[in-house]
Amino acid sequence: MADVNPFVYSRPLAPEDVLDREPEIRQLLSLAAGGHYVRLYAPRRFGKTSLLGKAFAEAERGGELVPVLVDLYGVLSYADVTIRIERAYAQLKGTIRKTIEAILRTTGLGLSLGAPGISVKLQLEPRTDPLPALHALLDLPQRVAERSGTRVFVALDEFQDIAKVQDFDKLLRSHIQHQGESASYIFCGSEPGMMRELFDVKGRPLYGQAEPLRLGRLPDGEVAAYIAERFARTKRSADLVLDALLATARGHPQRAMLLAHRLWDEVGPGKAADEDDWQNALARTRNQVAAEFDALWRGLEANEQRALRAIALFPEAPYGARALGAVDLKKSGAHYAVRSLLAKGELEEESGRTVFVDPLFELWLNDVQRGREDAPL
Ligand SMILES: Nc1ncnc2c1ncn2[C@@H]1O[C@H](COP(=O)(O)OP(=O)(O)OP(=O)(O)O)[C@@H](O)[C@H]1O
Ligand SMILES: [Mg+2]
Repeated sequence: MADVNPFVYSRPLAPEDVLDREPEIRQLLSLAAGGHYVRLYAPRRFGKTSLLGKAFAEAERGGELVPVLVDLYGVLSYADVTIRIERAYAQLKGTIRKTIEAILRTTGLGLSLGAPGISVKLQLEPRTDPLPALHALLDLPQRVAERSGTRVFVALDEFQDIAKVQDFDKLLRSHIQHQGESASYIFCGSEPGMMRELFDVKGRPLYGQAEPLRLGRLPDGEVAAYIAERFARTKRSADLVLDALLATARGHPQRAMLLAHRLWDEVGPGKAADEDDWQNALARTRNQVAAEFDALWRGLEANEQRALRAIALFPEAPYGARALGAVDLKKSGAHYAVRSLLAKGELEEESGRTVFVDPLFELWLNDVQRGREDAPL
């Protein structure tokens, strides 16, 4: 057997690799089965797409739902949304795919689950109006349910990005409000501010329409077991440094896997990771993520930078006179900046405290503050 690193950190996981999340999946599936809408929120890289994949795999095994996973990342126009939805249906296989192909053919709009779908048409003839095709795609769940008797389970991943497509939420609502019997919708997003804007502001088309479900951090005990098992399976051990890794990752799913991946790389077959291996893995991880944090940092307002610094320096009392004095920030400015960082998902409230979502971002910031020689600037 090839000696392959068993920790994936850069893409959604296969269902069998997803740790836990069982209660969330149960809840999601039962709401969906009841025809309710769900709004699934988690910070970036907390495992939303992986969870959807696992939930879909379970739903498919039950055979009662047709799962459609639409990735709306970066959409800017109706044409983009149309293409993404068509591509999502194109992932389906078997008889349900044939049923859908047949329905699409009757529309005469050039929609198809094969290669020459609407994306090709929109590219070759950029003036094509995407709206008729989009209407047809949004009606699809109802028609599928009529023909096959199966509920369609639509997950709209990166849903916050539709905020850039004018009135798409209005259009969507006009279709889905009649689909209580035929479809269930999950709106999935990582920016709390944008998600609130879409669902919690009175007068917005989707106001109050979806049951909120939040993905939190992973419990240390489960992360430890997952990592230990994968080290053991590949004839290695992480026991000596596992606590240090858990303390650094703080339950952040992707950060835990990234650190485990780097640590595994330091350890030869048949060996146990020691303190040196851990320090090397941590240093490599810090190097790897530095550019990302540098870009993030440069994109922040000066007061946001000050507020983050205050929290990193004085996590117990970031609004105290000492903290604010140290970063040259007024209290009102601090509150405003923190609100904006919460809305962007860089900070979150945890048992009454404001904390960094990403523990590695906090480490990076501490490095920069200390002016460490090897700190990325
Ligand atoms: N339940 C989990 N068990 C193990 N690892 C996980 C889990 N959830 C997330 N991860 C880790 O996080 C990484 C990112 O997962 P995923 O792409 O599903 O997150 P996401 O929230 O959809 O991210 P994005 O915000 O970038 O779309 C995975 O590659 C994996 O390393
Ligand atoms: Mg995702």
